[in-house]
Amino acid sequence: MSVEFSPFDYAVNENPFPIYARLLDEAPLYRNDDDDFWALSRHADVGAALPDSARFSSSHGPLLNRPPWGPDAASAVSFVAMDPPSHTALRTLVSRGFTARRVADLEPRIRDITRHHLTEALDRGAFDFVEDFAVRLPLDVVSELVGVPEADRDDVRRLAMLSLHREDGSQDVSPEGAEAQAALFGYYSDLVAERRKDPADDLVSVLVGDLPDHEVIPILFVLLAAGSETTTNLLGHAWYWAWRFPDQLARAFDDVPAWVEETLRYDPPATGVARLLTEDLDLHGERVPAGSRMWLLIAAANRDPRVFTDPDRYDLDRDTSQMISFGGGRHFCMGSSLGRLEARVALEELVSAVGSYEIDPDGLRRSHMGNVRGFATLPTVVARR
Ligand code: HEM
Repeated sequence: MSVEFSPFDYAVNENPFPIYARLLDEAPLYRNDDDDFWALSRHADVGAALPDSARFSSSHGPLLNRPPWGPDAASAVSFVAMDPPSHTALRTLVSRGFTARRVADLEPRIRDITRHHLTEALDRGAFDFVEDFAVRLPLDVVSELVGVPEADRDDVRRLAMLSLHREDGSQDVSPEGAEAQAALFGYYSDLVAERRKDPADDLVSVLVGDLPDHEVIPILFVLLAAGSETTTNLLGHAWYWAWRFPDQLARAFDDVPAWVEETLRYDPPATGVARLLTEDLDLHGERVPAGSRMWLLIAAANRDPRVFTDPDRYDLDRDTSQMISFGGGRHFCMGSSLGRLEARVALEELVSAVGSYEIDPDGLRRSHMGNVRGFATLPTVVARR
């Protein structure tokens, strides 16, 4: 039987890797008529498409879900859904508030935020690794980066969690989520107005120097969306896979950066990105017409046996330098160093406090978002050192 694949299929999302292996082998250029997209899975093909933004355009956004896929995607996800020259201009501007120095300077604050959320959970001994910790840290770090005052962070986190939350079984925002989104919009509008009057040393102040409000606010939402769930999922996957493969656990606790990198390769938080084909493409003996939706399967490319030996083995000693979990080319993840830093600090803090841990396999639940894969809950019991 020929292979069938949809990123919207929950059963696939639970364990997509056997299907990825078949796509890599049998259907490196895959067509799904029902959801109307094509997919590339081999490392060479995805790796070549990502930097080729002239043929693989971001103009309709990086997500297959409709909306935001479409010509208006930029109104929701700003420069992520743009091509040059508008992408270049906005990205350059945001990069000014996102320099290597600014990210490195965040380390002590990230450690404080980590301890703030972890202390109570570790004291309890039994907690939900995702809800009690991995969701909270990245949201607060984005607030720190953007310049949300500390006193407002609990509120912003609560609103962000509500607005990013999807009911199981739905890709849509709930009425409660929509209300939270509106409240967050109002909060960001006030913050932007304040920084216009009285600039501080933060990202909002950099952005308001050059952009009108209606361009600044979507950027703040993008940072929240792009920077939070991805990092949450990276943390959840690291915690889960090291537990699931006990032969790697001691190695993980010994070498946190290797733990982070192999987790990124093995089960990447962003499973793929979408592109609009601007001209006909001839590949693997088929012609894909201009105007097609193309799904670039990062998570499959990271398991391509042509590049990674024994790709389904979670192996902290392997060379991960070819993994493409942060994308490539012009849209290469702006938060890659920040995400890695958060993961390193969080896992270091856990390693220094936890002697051993167990996850309840019956209590864990995956989130279902199509383009990102991760855990919604990960019930954990820890034994302190
Ligand atoms: C740690 C886990 C993370 C992963 C796996 C990840 C993954 C990705 C990927 C695959 C893209 C490419 C999208 C595309 O090509 O269309 C991307 C873009 C982006 N990411 Fe991340 N990301 C992570 C963390 C973060 C963080 C912490 C931030 C910021 C707070 C962030 C901000 C962004 C932004 C702004 C873009 C858009 C760049 C552009 O379009 O030019 N990401 N990310």
